[in-house]
Amino acid sequence: MKPLFYLNKYLWKYKWRLSLGILFVTSSNFLAVEMPKIVKNSVNTFEDNVWLLKANPNDDTYFENILNGALWLALAYIGISLVKGIFVFLNRQTIIVMSRLIEYDLKNEIYAHYQKLSPSFYKRNSTGDLMNRISEDVSKVRMYLGPAIMYTINLVVLFFLTITYMLNTNVELTLYVLAPLPLMAVLIYYISKIMNKKSEEVQVQQSKISSFVQETFSGIRVIKAYNMQGATEGRFTKEVDGYKTKSLNLAKVNALFFPVMILLIGISTILTIYIGGLKAQGPNPEISTGDIAAFVIYVNMLTWPFASVGWVTSMVQRASASQKRINEFLNESPEIVDIEKPKSFENGDIALTDVSFTYKDSGIQALKNVSLTIKKGTTLGIIGETGSGKSTLGNLLGRLHDPTSGTIKVKDIEFKEVFLKELRKQVGYVPQDAFLFSDSIKNNIQFGLEQDGVSDDLLHQAAKDAHIYHNIIEFDKGFETVVGERGLTLSGGQKQRVSIARAIIKEPEILIFDDCLSAVDTETEDVILTNLKRIMKGKTSVVISHRISSVQHADHIIVLQDGEIIEEGNHEGLIATKGYYERLYEKQMEG
Ligand SMILES: Nc1ncnc2c1ncn2[C@@H]1O[C@H](COP(=O)(O)OP(=O)(O)OP(=O)(O)O)[C@@H](O)[C@H]1O
Ligand SMILES: [Mg+2]
Repeated sequence: MKPLFYLNKYLWKYKWRLSLGILFVTSSNFLAVEMPKIVKNSVNTFEDNVWLLKANPNDDTYFENILNGALWLALAYIGISLVKGIFVFLNRQTIIVMSRLIEYDLKNEIYAHYQKLSPSFYKRNSTGDLMNRISEDVSKVRMYLGPAIMYTINLVVLFFLTITYMLNTNVELTLYVLAPLPLMAVLIYYISKIMNKKSEEVQVQQSKISSFVQETFSGIRVIKAYNMQGATEGRFTKEVDGYKTKSLNLAKVNALFFPVMILLIGISTILTIYIGGLKAQGPNPEISTGDIAAFVIYVNMLTWPFASVGWVTSMVQRASASQKRINEFLNESPEIVDIEKPKSFENGDIALTDVSFTYKDSGIQALKNVSLTIKKGTTLGIIGETGSGKSTLGNLLGRLHDPTSGTIKVKDIEFKEVFLKELRKQVGYVPQDAFLFSDSIKNNIQFGLEQDGVSDDLLHQAAKDAHIYHNIIEFDKGFETVVGERGLTLSGGQKQRVSIARAIIKEPEILIFDDCLSAVDTETEDVILTNLKRIMKGKTSVVISHRISSVQHADHIIVLQDGEIIEEGNHEGLIATKGYYERLYEKQMEG
């Protein structure tokens, strides 16, 4: 149960609700044990008066006794039932509601933590896994917080109250009658365990099907282009078949649950009536007929709590396994964090000294001893083959990673020391894969702004600067056009330009373009770069590209190869060097 101790802080948070819940469970049980006593009284009253009535058929009092007794006892029974019902309602309103509130808090806690974690965490763990822990696992934990706690308190209270009464009535009979119950608890425990295992299998299969379907339809164009509909359908059928088999297996075990319970209650009931019957006979009966009736009801009342011992145990085990998984993620500490007293951001020259970077998970050294200075207000061009480390460098400049060794400073303050929130605000980063949210173009562009809603002028200006305005106004709904999942309705170049507009509208001090002009033609590229020169006046920009045309007007250009700077200078200087840059230039000019 150790992992579940993590939740104690929440139980503490809702301590009043929980205490009230315990009070209500206790009260409802106090009333519940009164009810069989009423039945006992009715049976005894009836029995006594029937004998007397038979002996004195002409005396009406005995008949009236029976009627009056029945009326009052029935009223009492109904009254107690009603009040007990109210307590049961209240106890669910407190304990089960508490479990829902904690579920809500826990989900928020996990979500907030997810957002803090670094990209490398997301490389290591699949989206499915992240989603499962925040949904499936949290619901299992909730079962511990709600039903498990509720039934446990219920069992403890009810058990002590009934057992006390039963033992007071007759010790021997009590022992006989209760004998089958522990056996039932053990049996139910094993059945629940098997049921949980099977239902877990069903769940795993279910998530397999969902991932498969999701992937199939995201990649539907590839599937159609390769004519693989038949094959994917075959795979789908196979997975669904698996699901069917597993569900049927679960149903079989499920079907055992109630019969086993009812069988054991039956045995208890028979024992009560048989042994109780023997004890109620003779000239000096140990117990009354009413006691037998009360015992039968008590046994039935105890059945569910006893069964729930097995059920609750396996529920707690599952919750504990789930909370362990959740804790694993909650214990992950984000790599990129603020230092104790972060400094505020000031724009200035950016200086990289001996910066190296190795991806921990793959061990690939993507940057080796890169030293360079980007003067404030200038543009740096970065060019190089694929895999040469350009994006890695861009990531470091946006502080998505910290360098493995070496330092990056802006105006002589280390990046690590700058208040992260300000740094992110001042650095506009356009990633290589233009990701758009399934939302309107407007919301996609104003995504990074702190204030909600921005004036149309600003919005339109950003779109114009990114050279996408003329495309947007051609859409029927203009800026309100919703782009489908991953912006399916936009062309590659349009998506890139919307993501450029998203960075521009922030008016950042430093702007990094990671190959985000790759899908636009050279003319459009020219327009955007000219606009950029205007809006980034006095600010620093970094343009990463495969194309000379994107970087040739930059103030300084570096050529990366295998994570190292092999050439640097301005366009003319690099052409004169007659190295990699010049050869690339010749090749691209031919094109
Ligand atoms: N998240 C990552 N985890 C592990 N290795 C990575 C990761 N991202 C990149 N790499 C590796 O680091 C090296 C540099 O990659 P990077 O993305 O910086 O290249 P690039 O110059 O931007 O290439 P491209 O022009 O294709 O965008 C590559 O060998 C790549 O496989
Ligand atoms: Mg790249």
